[in-house]
Amino acid sequence: MIIPIFFIFSLLIHKSYANIPFDYCVGDMSLPSGPAGYACKHPAKLTVDDFVYSGLNIPGTVSKILKFNASNAFAAEFPALNGMGISATRVDIDVGGFFPAHAHRVSELFIIIKGTIIAGFIDTNNTPFYKTLKKGDIMIFPPSLLHFVVNVGSTPVTAYASFASENPGVQLIDTALFRNNLPSELVEKITLLDHKQVQKLKKVFGGTN
Ligand SMILES: *[C@@H]1O[C@H](CO)[C@@H](O)[C@H](O)[C@H]1NC(C)=O
Repeated sequence: MIIPIFFIFSLLIHKSYANIPFDYCVGDMSLPSGPAGYACKHPAKLTVDDFVYSGLNIPGTVSKILKFNASNAFAAEFPALNGMGISATRVDIDVGGFFPAHAHRVSELFIIIKGTIIAGFIDTNNTPFYKTLKKGDIMIFPPSLLHFVVNVGSTPVTAYASFASENPGVQLIDTALFRNNLPSELVEKITLLDHKQVQKLKKVFGGTN
């Protein structure tokens, strides 16, 4: 009986973060999740370790071409975030690397721990807002707007991002267009890129067709 009760409870109230009538709802990863998140793990089974995540304390492996790594602590990785409306990502960018233009469903606070970057976003009027930032600077990227980060220094960059959701989603322009089986002719049509360029980008990002 306990499990269904927790499940229904969590479905009903997850979205009112401002005024949640429970202390926590650590996700029970053994049960299915829905749009409202995961069912709650039984409180009697929780320890402090449920509320700590150490997966971001070392740099991730940077990718060859873009030379960046993003390691997420979303609800899927850190179930204590379930229902909390907050999450984090660690970003490491090698010299010459960058985090290409992408967007999330919610706002993001970007916090530079070390290194020098140009960070920016582009609003729905196509106005760009970008600036060189260094250690200790923070920048807000508004919900669903495209944003990017480029390492413009001579040392690796470490930064953290905090999101206003435990499941903020991430959509990169490049992987959305070039890492799937959308037919090349269609990609050419909707991007104005020529066939050769589309083939090249599909190869780089792992797309087919
Ligand atoms: C980041 O690094 C981790 C750990 O090395 C790796 O598992 C993951 O695939 C990398 N992610 C990206 C987006 O490069």
